[in-house]
Amino acid sequence: MPDAATLQPTDDHSPFHVACIMDGNGRWAQMRGRPRLVGHHIGARRVRDIVKACPDAGVTHLTIFAFSTENWKRTQVEVAGLMRLFRRYITHEAKALLEAGVRVRFIGDRIRLDDRLVRLMDDLEMLTAVNSKLNLTIAINYGGRDEVTRAAQRLAVEIERGRLTHKDVDAECLARFLDTRFLPDPDLVIRTSGEARISNFLLWQSAYAEYEFIDTLWPDFHADEFCKIVKGYSTRARRFGGVTA
Ligand code: FPP
Repeated sequence: MPDAATLQPTDDHSPFHVACIMDGNGRWAQMRGRPRLVGHHIGARRVRDIVKACPDAGVTHLTIFAFSTENWKRTQVEVAGLMRLFRRYITHEAKALLEAGVRVRFIGDRIRLDDRLVRLMDDLEMLTAVNSKLNLTIAINYGGRDEVTRAAQRLAVEIERGRLTHKDVDAECLARFLDTRFLPDPDLVIRTSGEARISNFLLWQSAYAEYEFIDTLWPDFHADEFCKIVKGYSTRARRFGGVTA
């Protein structure tokens, strides 16, 4: 495991946002002749390990893609199992997250989620609102296009009500209507399982993010590999469309 002191990507104070597309749970289970849900359960353990590793790795914001707007197309058994797993994760991890200084927030459209899950999500957000050591954002029923569409609808309502005019609408204004309005843009997006796609994740926010596509399946993605990638990121120059000095 790399020495935590060597892992600061920029300086101790700047936000450092890592987003993860947690892919490969199903394949991991199927390769072992187990039901896909077993892969999701082991995947939840990796979430726990990586959350723990973030503060020492200099990561201030971690955003994870837990369920997309497209994932409803999976079998009813898998969808129901994932929703149960999210409820279980929130119930079992709440105390540890609170004590570890983690602030948890959720993004995505809650309208289609079961009331029990939404209540747990609201409660965890409230319970951990005092924390600031790590900002953990969990995307459930999230899709980048859906998020931008909902933002545009809310913006249109403000214009209809006369609280904004079309001249007020610029990128900064639109970003204030996104689910992620409380977050800095991601610096680094990691996708596991060998697929080099972004699958509708943080489309607007990742305009200048660095991407890291790795072959490891999410259930095999341990904190040491996560820390190694974070450290590698710190050596890359980011130009935001300009030129380096
Ligand atoms: C994609 O892998 C993964 C998901 C759709 C679910 C991600 C959920 C977890 C890691 C569970 C834990 C999350 C929390 C917040 C407790 P896949 O099933 O599409 O994998 P495949 O491409 O191999 O089929």
